[in-house]
Amino acid sequence: SFYINFIKDDRWHYLSDGFLVTIEVAFCAVLVGVLVGFTVAVIRSTHDKTGKLRLLDFLCRVYLTVIRGTPVVVQLLIIYFVIFGSVNISKVLVAIVAFGVNSGAYVAEIIRGGIMSVDKGQFEAGRSLGLGYGQTMIYIILPQAFKNVLPALGNEFIVLLKETSVSGYIALQDLTKGGDIIRSQTYTAFLPLIAVAGIYLAVVMLFSWLLGKLERRLKNNE
Ligand code: ARG
Repeated sequence: SFYINFIKDDRWHYLSDGFLVTIEVAFCAVLVGVLVGFTVAVIRSTHDKTGKLRLLDFLCRVYLTVIRGTPVVVQLLIIYFVIFGSVNISKVLVAIVAFGVNSGAYVAEIIRGGIMSVDKGQFEAGRSLGLGYGQTMIYIILPQAFKNVLPALGNEFIVLLKETSVSGYIALQDLTKGGDIIRSQTYTAFLPLIAVAGIYLAVVMLFSWLLGKLERRLKNNE
């Protein structure tokens, strides 16, 4: 039966190996996303507040519009087949770049919202203490902004974890692809696909729970 073969043929390795790929891509991509998003948010906020960095601000807006206006699967395909089409590059790396660059656009808006949510008086207070623009940003605004957006950034990891399930489009063997390979080899759909869903669900539930704890701790530290 399917269940016997599943164990005997070691096919469950498709799930465990795929799971590790999924975690690796999601984790690294969220780091790339936070780095890119943070940079874009600071550039845009600086332009808003001072009128400087006009060209960079324009480029950031083009990036945000294009990335958020096209599907992440299409971006993944373009990065793999067009941008890295003629070089031999690891699919995991391509996926990290694609999902990281995609996530950066969403993170940029999260962090920019966080910066805007810090009271204007905080900025004026910094400046009137004699701090420069950069110092006020680094020592007064950003720490408060980061605390406010931490839950949203955690949520971005959850979104990204599920989003990486389209990695099979470039034949990367992530968790979803692993389950689908088992389905095609065994002609049995139910168990492998339900198992895949259950694994995503378990990770998402675990992470949401950790996030809730973090959120409560941040609240108590007001
Ligand atoms: N599924 C949407 C798309 O294809 C969302 C992309 C990812 N969203 C995010 N917050 N990272 O474009």
